[in-house]
Amino acid sequence: MADTPANAVPVVTIDGPGGAGKGTIAGLLAERLGWHLLDSGALYRLVALDATSRAIPLEAEAELARIAASLDVRFDARSGEGLVWLGNRDVTQAIRTEACGQGASVVAALPAVRTALVQRQRDFRQLPGLVADGRDMATVIFPDAGLKVFLTASVEERARRRHKQLKDKGIDVSLAALSRDMAERDRRDSERSVAPLRPGQGARILDTTGMTIPEVVDLMSRWASETFPDASPRRA
Ligand code: C5P
Repeated sequence: MADTPANAVPVVTIDGPGGAGKGTIAGLLAERLGWHLLDSGALYRLVALDATSRAIPLEAEAELARIAASLDVRFDARSGEGLVWLGNRDVTQAIRTEACGQGASVVAALPAVRTALVQRQRDFRQLPGLVADGRDMATVIFPDAGLKVFLTASVEERARRRHKQLKDKGIDVSLAALSRDMAERDRRDSERSVAPLRPGQGARILDTTGMTIPEVVDLMSRWASETFPDASPRRA
């Protein structure tokens, strides 16, 4: 239905600090609903990765905005894991390192970089619906989303989860260093002047400390079916 206006496409936004489980929850919820998925953090990570590999300083706003505007990225959802390609390079693993996450949070504080990525993110809004994961999904990118969730958890729990996630991938980092980096990234994301991390208007705050992933996904898919009773899943 090419003539469906974008604002008629249902959107669930999931915002919150790092390690709150947004990525995992967003992926599972999109799968459960049969909707599209936007991992907006991956875009900032890609800008940081691309700049670093071309030896461009992460403060060079104009150059970074040019990179953001012309990112040759492809998200391959059919692969199950969700492969990410930059040009013909598989960067699925490369963008997940802590260093890349820190770099992403530095470039994400640059207004020109954020502006360059706005339309690219809105283009993900396609039928039958979109689950959008990030920091400013409800406040800036999709302020009219029907369901807005702000996922959070204590910093200790978030650091523990991220530690386990990295360990499962064979990446070894100390829990203390991770906690410290996470607190620093939270501070930078919350205090920046452009699109700071905060719940959108009307967002439901969900503290997932002590909740399992299936519990969170069940609760959110119940909220989604209450909010969008007529939405239909994507055809395979
Ligand atoms: O979610 P993820 O850890 O992949 O995000 C990496 C960084 O990208 C965040 O720390 C944040 O600074 C930035 N980001 C953002 N806005 C988004 C998504 C991510 O500023 N919508």
